Amino acid sequence: MALNSSFHLFVSILLFLLPLIFSTSTTIPLTFFHSSSTRDPYKHLSHLASLSISRAHHIKFPQKPSISTTPLAPHSYGAYSISLNFGTPPQSIPFIMDTGSDFVWFPCTKRYTCNNCSVTGQEIPSYIPKASSSVQILGCMNPKCTWIHNTTDPSTRCKDCQLPNSANCKQMCPPYLILYGSGSTSGLTLVETLDLPNKKVPNVVVGCSLFSTHQPAGIAGFGRGVSSIPSQLGIKKFSYCLLSRNYDDSGKSSNLVLDGAYNSGKKTAILSYTPLLKNPLVPETKSLSVYYYVGLRKITVGGQKVKIPYKFLIPDDKGNGGTIVDSGTTLSYMSYDVFESVLKAFSDQVKYFKRDVEIETQIGLKPCFNISGHEKVSFPDLIFHFKGGAEMKLPLANYFAGVGNDVVCLAMVSSNFYGSDLFNGPSIILGSFQMQNYQVEFDLKNERFGFKQQLCK
Ligand SMILES: *[C@@H]1O[C@H](CO)[C@@H](O)[C@H](O)[C@H]1NC(C)=O
Ligand SMILES: *[C@@H]1O[C@H](CO)[C@@H](O)[C@H](O)[C@H]1NC(C)=O
Ligand SMILES: *[C@@H]1O[C@H](CO)[C@@H](O)[C@H](O)[C@H]1NC(C)=O
Repeated sequence: MALNSSFHLFVSILLFLLPLIFSTSTTIPLTFFHSSSTRDPYKHLSHLASLSISRAHHIKFPQKPSISTTPLAPHSYGAYSISLNFGTPPQSIPFIMDTGSDFVWFPCTKRYTCNNCSVTGQEIPSYIPKASSSVQILGCMNPKCTWIHNTTDPSTRCKDCQLPNSANCKQMCPPYLILYGSGSTSGLTLVETLDLPNKKVPNVVVGCSLFSTHQPAGIAGFGRGVSSIPSQLGIKKFSYCLLSRNYDDSGKSSNLVLDGAYNSGKKTAILSYTPLLKNPLVPETKSLSVYYYVGLRKITVGGQKVKIPYKFLIPDDKGNGGTIVDSGTTLSYMSYDVFESVLKAFSDQVKYFKRDVEIETQIGLKPCFNISGHEKVSFPDLIFHFKGGAEMKLPLANYFAGVGNDVVCLAMVSSNFYGSDLFNGPSIILGSFQMQNYQVEFDLKNERFGFKQQLCK
């Protein structure tokens, strides 16, 4: 009897521990990055519109970096942030979570200087190398130094490490300087332990930025390059659920899950999948290789196919065209021709409401409709159709945004508000506004992008 009951106890402890023993996934809270302090709906929406346009501009026209070759990251954010713990003992640092870049860097040392950075007036937390016992400076001969400085000839990069004394050469990997559209960051590269909730990952390459402009926080690159978080950690899958923008500034967060299924309650969600694509890698467009491309095949508005020339849907042999999914973009972006077709479809089909051109000009979005006096408001369905048959039928709140009580505007941007639109980089950028209350999954092992509409909380 005694044996039996202790056996039972043993089994129930084991059952209790099983999920802990076999759980390999890591969960990190994902919150909005506060990008503006205004609650004025006009200003807020036009702020998001201008952020999204400048983000698209940076993605399409990355600046040639003068020293390093890290592709662009956003300089301003309607974005999401995560906190990561680096060092021993761990220091918690907020990062912008960015699928559109691959370098990881944080504000570093007490002397960190940042010009035009704070959006909220609060000080940006810095990582302090002196307080960590596990930090090292990345050495010049370390192969990982080529992630940042890929000069074909290492003898120019590591002059002090030439034979005969190269074995214990102390020269560090040269400083990095990353130029973004209107901002920059620079510093030294460290190797440090990343302390995740259920494991420690040693030797993570991370930039210790000493000087930045226009950078409200560090950036955790989740793109395709070698130095991104998924690549360095060998993560096969990451997923997150995008909270409704109604929770902007509320401090609410959802979860970013690394390796493992996103689990909301008990049900395991069944997602729709479309292949993740890579841009054909040509040297001039190396910066495009970090983006997650998907095969958008068509867009329908109210069941009618929107006319989109083929060249916008499929990247050409120079890598231009195609669709990316980008966590750093708020309102989705469409090239002029694509956007004009979508705009025409809405203005042709929506007859009940009057266009409000004055507000369109004021906010920088179109079309805008005055819905005053209408009890029930309905608009044509907007559906993105992807390669493999996956369909994303957006809820109305994901493509029309209210401006005050009377007016709603299509919450997407195009370069036509900005003048010329050269055929450069991705033609369509799917942003986070369109995926509110969607669970999204980047399944890197199977090279597929999954999504499912779901209340995120
Ligand atoms: C940013 O810096 C420039 C000068 O470098 C200054 O003119 C401008 O007012 C600054 N903007 C903010 C928001 O601080
Ligand atoms: C560095 O450049 C060489 C030659 O251009 C290329 O073959 C190699 O893949 C690059 N390495 C990295 C880490 O980008
Ligand atoms: C919307 O239309 C109503 C009535 O037609 C008008 O009174 C109101 O001023 C309009 N709102 C805006 C923001 O133009």
